[in-house]
Amino acid sequence: MRHLISLKEQSADDIREILEMAATLKKKYRAGEATDLLHGRTLLMFFQKGSTRTRISFEAAMTELGGHAIFLEASKTQFMFADFRDEVRAMMRFGDVFMFRALDVADVLLAASFDQIPVIDACSEKYHPCQSLADILTMAEHSGGLDKIKKITWLGIENNVSNTLMLACGKLGIEVAIAAPETDANSIDTELNAMAAATGKVKKTLDLKEALAGAQYVHTDTWMNAEFFENGKPKPEFKDEYERREAVFMPYQLNATLIDTYAPGAGIMHCMPMHVGYEISRDAIEHKNSAIFDQAENRKHVEKAILLWLLEKKL
Ligand code: CP
Repeated sequence: MRHLISLKEQSADDIREILEMAATLKKKYRAGEATDLLHGRTLLMFFQKGSTRTRISFEAAMTELGGHAIFLEASKTQFMFADFRDEVRAMMRFGDVFMFRALDVADVLLAASFDQIPVIDACSEKYHPCQSLADILTMAEHSGGLDKIKKITWLGIENNVSNTLMLACGKLGIEVAIAAPETDANSIDTELNAMAAATGKVKKTLDLKEALAGAQYVHTDTWMNAEFFENGKPKPEFKDEYERREAVFMPYQLNATLIDTYAPGAGIMHCMPMHVGYEISRDAIEHKNSAIFDQAENRKHVEKAILLWLLEKKL
C-alpha cells in the first residue's frame, strides 16, 4: 500500500510521476475538463493543529476529483479521551485515504502501519511532503520545466518543510543551499538528513553570498511555528524566544534588498502562513519575483495528483 509521509519512501520517478500528473490536472482544470476519477470515494481529513491552505486545498481537490472530503478537528472528536490506536483504526474504515495533520509524526506512522488505507502526512513536526511537491511544481512552471531547475536556496530555520524540500530536490538532482543558523529540534530526522546528503546535492553554509549565488528560487518559512502565536502575536510565554530568534535569524530574512543584491533573478517562495516583518518582508511578498500565491494554489493541483497516485489511478 502506498503512503505519503516523508518522501523518503518515494523514488525520483515517483516524484516525477506525481508532478507530471499535477501539471496535467492543472491544465485540465483550467480548460474546464472534468477529472472526476474519485467519484464515490471519501477523503478523511484529520487535524490536530490549525490550517488554512491544507484544509481548503484538499477539500477542493476532492470535490474536483468527484469525491467527498470529511473534515474532523481532533478537539471535537472522541480522540480526546479514547486510545488513538482504536479511534484511528475505526476512522479509517470510513474512507479511502487518511490525510492527517498531526502533532506527532509517530501517530502518522502508526496510522500507516495498519495499512488499511493510504495515509498522508499533512504537516507534522518533521515533514510536509504536500508542500514540497507543490513548491517543486511551482518552480517547474516558473522555469519552463523540472529539468530547468538547477539550484534553490533555503533561508532561515531548518524545519519540516526544508526537510522534505531538500530531500525531494536532492532526489531530482537539484542543488540545495541551506543557510540556516538553527534547526527546529523537533524536526530533526537523521535518516532523512543522511539520505539528502547522499544525493550530493545539499550544501549547508551561513555565507549568504555563497548560498544565494546562482539560486533560481529562494525559500523561507516562519522562524516560529503557529502554536507559539495567539491573535497574531507571540504568546506571552514565548515572547523572549520570539525576540531571541528575531536577533539570530534577522540576517537571513527574505527581503527585497537581499534578493536584489545577491539573486536578482530568483523567484521568492514562502509556503505560508507568513509573519510579515519577521522571516519575510512585505517588499519581498509584493516583489515582481514573488511566486508565493502560485505556490499556495499549487497545493490543490498537486494534492489531486497525490490522491490519484496513492490510489494507483491513471489519468
Ligand atoms: N502551508 C500550509 O500548510 O498552510 P496551512 O498551515 O494553512 O495549511
